[in-house]
Amino acid sequence: MSCCQLPSMAQRLRGKVALITGAASGMAESTAKLFHRHGAKVMILDIQDELGQKVADEISPSGEDASYFHCDVTNEDDVRSAVDAAVAKYGKVDVMFNNAGIVEKAARLADFPKSVFQRVMDVNVTGCFLAAKHAARVMIPQRKGSIIFTASMASVVGGTAQHGYTASKHAVVGLTRNLAAELGQFGIRANCISPYLVATPFAAAAKELSLADVDGLGQRNSNLKGVTLKKEEIAEAALYLASDESKFTSGLNLVVDGGITVTLGELNVYKLGLY
Ligand SMILES: NC(=O)c1ccc[n+]([C@@H]2O[C@H](COP(=O)([O-])OP(=O)(O)OC[C@H]3O[C@@H](n4cnc5c(N)ncnc54)[C@H](O)[C@@H]3O)[C@@H](O)[C@H]2O)c1
Repeated sequence: MSCCQLPSMAQRLRGKVALITGAASGMAESTAKLFHRHGAKVMILDIQDELGQKVADEISPSGEDASYFHCDVTNEDDVRSAVDAAVAKYGKVDVMFNNAGIVEKAARLADFPKSVFQRVMDVNVTGCFLAAKHAARVMIPQRKGSIIFTASMASVVGGTAQHGYTASKHAVVGLTRNLAAELGQFGIRANCISPYLVATPFAAAAKELSLADVDGLGQRNSNLKGVTLKKEEIAEAALYLASDESKFTSGLNLVVDGGITVTLGELNVYKLGLY
C-alpha cells in the first residue's frame, strides 16, 4: 500500500480500477490523487505525456497503483488501447471518468469558424462517447461500472461560455441520460458533474487571466459567498459518483455551482432587495 493512502477502513474506492481522461492537469489530476487515496488503482489518460507521467509517478513511484497512457480521446484506437491496457494491467475497469475537454476562443456567431465548432464538439462530445463505448465493452460482462463525465454549468444555461462549448456541454448531459437508459440493464451507471468556474490552466486560458484572477472572477460573481470552488471539490463529487455510496444514482447532472444556475442572476428578488 502506498504511504499516502487512507487506512483501508476509510477507503471509499478500495479495490476499484479507475481510468481518468484529461488527468495530466486540473480537476482530473486532483481526482486521480483522491481516488488513489481512497484505494483505487488509477490510469491517467491524456495527450500531455510529460505531465501525465509526472502525475502517475507522484501517485505511485513504483508504478504499481498508477500509470500513464497516452490517449487522445478523439482517436478511437487510442481509447480502445487505453481500456485494453487497463484490463491487461489491473484486470478490470470499474470507473471511467471522462474529463478531457477544450474551449474555443471567444467569437461572435458571424465570425465563428465551422472548423472550431467541430473541433470542440469532437473533443468534448465524441471523446466522451468513445470513452463510454470502450469502457462499457468491459463493464457489460462485469455487470457493474460507473461512467462519469465532466460537463459544466454551461450544460444548464446559455451565455456563460462560447457557442461550441455550450452546445458540447448540453450534449454531454444528453449522452449521460441516454447511456443511463441503455446501460442500467447491465448494472452500469452514467452521471455527469457540472462545475462552476474553477481556477485551472483551462479556465485561465479560456478567460485569458491568471489562476488568481480566475478565482477572483469566480468569487465576485458567485451566488454562494464565503467559499471558493476549488478543483478538489470537483474531485469529491467524482469520488461520490465513483463509489458505491451512489449505487442507485444514474442519469444525474450533479451541478456544483453554488446555486448560480437556479437563479436569474441580477433578476433575483433577494439581490434586488425586494425581500
Ligand atoms: N475550469 C473550469 O472552470 C471548468 C468549469 C466547468 C467545466 N470544466 C470542464 O472540466 C474539464 C477539465 O478541465 P480543467 O479545468 O481541469 O482543465 P485542464 O486544462 O487543467 O485539464 C484538461 C485536460 O484535458 C486534456 N485534454 C485536452 N484535449 C485532450 C484530448 N483530445 N485527449 C485527451 N486529453 C485531452 C488536457 O491535456 C488537460 O490535461 C473540461 O472538460 C472542462 O470543460 C472546467
